[in-house]
Amino acid sequence: MDGVLADTASLHFKAWRKLAKENFGRSLPDELENKTRGISRSDSLSVILDYLEITVSKAKFHRLAEEKNQIYRNFLTDLSPDEVLPGMRDFITDLRKKGILTALASASQNGPFILERTGLSKYFNAIVDPSKIEAGKPAPDIYLAATAALELSPKECVGFEDAVSGIQSLKAAGIVSVGIGSDHEVGQADLRFSSTGDINFDDVEEIWAEITNNA
Ligand code: G6P
Repeated sequence: MDGVLADTASLHFKAWRKLAKENFGRSLPDELENKTRGISRSDSLSVILDYLEITVSKAKFHRLAEEKNQIYRNFLTDLSPDEVLPGMRDFITDLRKKGILTALASASQNGPFILERTGLSKYFNAIVDPSKIEAGKPAPDIYLAATAALELSPKECVGFEDAVSGIQSLKAAGIVSVGIGSDHEVGQADLRFSSTGDINFDDVEEIWAEITNNA
């Protein structure tokens, strides 16, 4: 969702930066953004605390995660359909017209809120609740839950991701992966588009058929 459907990916890192500055007076380098993308709030916090070489109690960890979410939610105050990434509303509308089922497999617990505010909820047959998933991305669990919710096998599906952890999750689940972003970010995907505006259904169908037929 973040960075694929809605222009919210950078807001997560902006919130982590604010949290680190306010609580520890520290700055976070750009390269940490890629490492925190796609993974859960608590896994992201662990990555950041590791970088800062700071150890905190369980209670403080919980408070920091909660505070980050408050900062992030404040950034979402004006969230509207304008934040749907280029081409994505048309792309999902087209999928639905073709009778293709869609599921959201985001690590974000703010997923339903963001879909609602951007007017995208109605395009989804299923939304996986990440709080019910034991192992987050890069483990395959969340994508396997999505395929199960659609009553499809992984082979019948294609997943769209902007994060390394997400591509790894798709691969582990045996689902054809489409990456959105630079080669550095999602170069491991089966097919890559530089940005959402470049996504082309025919290319996606072609790579899916090629991989599925050879499997
Ligand atoms: C997305 C983002 C991650 C974020 C995760 C959890 O996958 O890419 O950067 O940590 O969601 O989001 P949440 O909204 O639950 O804090």
